Amino acid sequence: MKVLVVGAGGREDALAWKLKQSKKVSCVFTAPGNPGTAKHGTNVPIKADDLEGLLAFALKEKIDLTVIGPELPLTLGIVDLFEAKGLKVFGPSKLGAELERSKVFSKKLMIDYNIPTAKYYEFTTAEKALNHIRNLDKNNLPIVIKADGLAAGKGVFICQSLDDATEAIKIIMEKKEFGSAGDTIVIEDFLEGEEASFIAVTDGNTVTPFASSQDHKPVFDTDQGPNTGGMGAYSPAPVVTPELSKEIMEKIMIPAVRAMDSEGRPFKGVLYAGLMIKNGKAKVLEFNCRFGDPETQPLLMRLRTDIVDIMLASIDGTLDKITLEWDKRTALCVVMASEGYPSDYTKGVLISGLEIAEQEGSGEVVVFHAGTTEQYGKILTSGGRVLGVTALGSDIASAIKKAYASTEKIKFKGAHYRADIGQKAVSR
Ligand code: AMP
Ligand code: GLY
Repeated sequence: MKVLVVGAGGREDALAWKLKQSKKVSCVFTAPGNPGTAKHGTNVPIKADDLEGLLAFALKEKIDLTVIGPELPLTLGIVDLFEAKGLKVFGPSKLGAELERSKVFSKKLMIDYNIPTAKYYEFTTAEKALNHIRNLDKNNLPIVIKADGLAAGKGVFICQSLDDATEAIKIIMEKKEFGSAGDTIVIEDFLEGEEASFIAVTDGNTVTPFASSQDHKPVFDTDQGPNTGGMGAYSPAPVVTPELSKEIMEKIMIPAVRAMDSEGRPFKGVLYAGLMIKNGKAKVLEFNCRFGDPETQPLLMRLRTDIVDIMLASIDGTLDKITLEWDKRTALCVVMASEGYPSDYTKGVLISGLEIAEQEGSGEVVVFHAGTTEQYGKILTSGGRVLGVTALGSDIASAIKKAYASTEKIKFKGAHYRADIGQKAVSR
């Protein structure tokens, strides 16, 4: 089979790496890809949101399976476009991807179908939102303010004071820092607890959970500093006990897929719930319609089942025939980021030590590329999140040790990474 992966991050490097291991796959193309994905096949210089360009390429090359990494092409309707031409493509339709594209849509769906989430209000003008804040009881602080649309993980503000809340509303609705994504906002109650990522695959009927995982969103150790796309992840995440996993399936994942169906938006592909867990109960922070990044890197290191079989079963409606098998070991990914990230960051910095880092891991470490580029045979930084050093270990302590031993071998000026990835699992 010829496979096309759409995207250019660490998640797409992990997807291309895993797809290449399938006996069914003869070649992997990644569009646009990065120097990591180039190791598993061929990079094609077409951007992830150039839907017509991707379609023309898939038709010309007779691609048998296209796998969409990021949310943007899904929300633009790439699955509908490919399916109309008879191409097999893994992911939800445009109507399905609305679950991630609009916070208002997903909050309303959760409330309408009794899926546990924080109480929320929706506003379409700054005036009404500011008025709501003025009348807010200080006991309700902190409060969470979110731009409705896609804002690359930056449209969420945790406000500790009424002044912070006012400022957030102005940034989103008056200064329009996220463009039309901020035409509407959601103001919701702050949830306390420990976060986890719950990822499942569905064909619209059967919902099959992936192994549990946990991301690390804030940029600094002990969850300090601004949120990022994710500074590291590991799997399994002991905060998601087997009992809780069962409950999440029954109260959140299956109801969400059924709800989408009832709304005339049959959902297939990956359903990813960002959860807040407290006292053994989970509430939904957000739904995503794609694999998590960096959660995918450790998850795919542990996945034993052929990923092509899973994806084809999701497309063909035969997921009930598939059982997922997982490596018993723990996998852990440390993200190395550019100086300044998640604010403005430097680019074009030379990276050294990549090969030594993988050798150090003696077959149990993979360095996935995210924001890198190749020039004259050298690897340079080109994005905020640069690399995901991912290790398998017999337990969490051993995965941490291996991932950090390899991370330390990689050098680039201004590089920073969290030193505490996986520590929440250790404390348990
Ligand atoms: P979201 O894009 O909605 O997942 O929000 C990004 C991050 O903001 C989450 O991963 C949480 O860390 C935080 N967050 C979002 N909503 C809430 C909430 N209601 N309570 C506490 N933290 C939240
Ligand atoms: N790791 C967070 C996300 O993929 O949205």
